[in-house]
This record gives sequence, C-alpha cells and structure tokens, in this order.
Amino acid sequence: MENLSILKDKNPIQILKNWLREAEESPEISKANVMVLSSFNIRLEGKHKISSRVVLLKEITEESLTFYTNYNSLKSHQLENPSALNFYWPALNKQVRLEGETKRTNRKKSLQYWKTRSRESQISQYISKQSEKLDRRSILEKKWKETQKKFHGEDIPCPPHWGGIIFSPNLIEFWVERPHRLHERLVFEKDPIRKEWQSYLLYP
Ligand SMILES: Cc1cc2nc3c(=O)[nH]c(=O)nc-3n(C[C@H](O)[C@H](O)[C@H](O)COP(=O)(O)O)c2cc1C
Repeated sequence: MENLSILKDKNPIQILKNWLREAEESPEISKANVMVLSSFNIRLEGKHKISSRVVLLKEITEESLTFYTNYNSLKSHQLENPSALNFYWPALNKQVRLEGETKRTNRKKSLQYWKTRSRESQISQYISKQSEKLDRRSILEKKWKETQKKFHGEDIPCPPHWGGIIFSPNLIEFWVERPHRLHERLVFEKDPIRKEWQSYLLYP
C-alpha cells in the first residue's frame, strides 16, 4: 500500500482524482462520488445554523468540485460561508476532507447538465421546494403526475433556482487507516496569494 509521505510533493487534486478512480473501480463501492457537505450560517433563525448532508460529485477539475442542487434549499442559504466536504470509502480505508468556498455555476453550465438528467428526475427537481415543509407525501405525488401531463411532448424547463455549486478547496487532507491506529494524515493547504499547495503531515 502506498505511503502518504511520498505524495507530499504531488498535486492534491491529482491524488484525489486517483483515489476517486480507485473507489469507482472497486467492486465493493457502489457510489464512489458520494460526499458529505457540511455548511453553516449563524444568521439563520432557530435550528439549521449548522448541518451536513450527502451530495453527489458530478465534476472535478484542477480547481474545483461541482455538485447540483436547489438554490433555495437550506444548504444554499448556508453556502455564503466557507464549507467542507468529506469522502469516506470504507472498502479502501481512506478518507478525504476538504475545506473551501463555493459559488454557483453559470446558467449555461446548469442547463447543459440538466439536459443529461432523465425526464423523471427533471420533473422531480422542477416541482421540489427542497428543504421546505411538506404537509403530505400525496401532495408531491399528485404534483409530479400533473407536471408530467402538463409537459406532455415538451421539454421540462430547468427552474431558475436549480443548478450547480462549484466548491473550490483551500485545504485537502488525505487519511489512510493503518494497523495499531497509526493512521496516516497528509494535509495540503493552498497559499491564498501564490495559489500554490503546501503540505505537511499530522499526528493521527
Ligand atoms: C446518495 C445521496 C445522494 C444525494 N445527492 C444529492 C445531490 O447531488 N444534490 C442535492 O441537492 N441533494 C442530494 N441528496 C439529498 C441531500 O442529502 C439532502 O437531503 C437535500 O439536498 C436537502 O438538503 P438541505 O435541506 O440541507 O439543503 C442526496 C442524498 C443521498 C442520500
């Protein structure tokens, strides 16, 4: 098994891509792109000042990771602040933690991705008031059927409040489980001015 120290001078995004590929190729992992997104907004009333949920990674570039969501959802109200992502693949005994900032994809990019979705899931996104209270499940099911009929023979329009979130990491930590709890941790931090990654090890 690779030793994390030898990756100290590598590009952390490339390491993450390699780990994602390893997870995708593992027969024991069904959704390698599952990531937990944590976000907060202390200005929100009552609960929900801080929360986590699963989202799916749809694109990774040298600078960022993209997922898609509803811009009116709880998470979107929290993403004006820094946020964090976490991957854990039990079959590989590996974890990756990321901290960073987010922004929205432009409309053209959101539309491009919208077109790749199935008609059924487009309808679900079209009618969902994600994170709002729903009195009865039957309301949602009725709305789904009505919308299916309403757009019969036509494309389902992408609602303006649906699209991508681009997460740009400024810290990435790679973690590997080792015997006797002597786990390995390798952190990369991005210099905010020079935009270069610097790495160091952490005690487990
Ligand atoms: C496997 C899995 C994948 C999911 N993928 C997404 C996703 O890509 N985008 C999304 O908005 N919600 C996704 N969800 C639902 C979220 O976890 C969450 O319930 C929803 O986004 C509302 O979160 P919020 O109220 O904190 O905004 C997924 C859930 C699971 C379990």
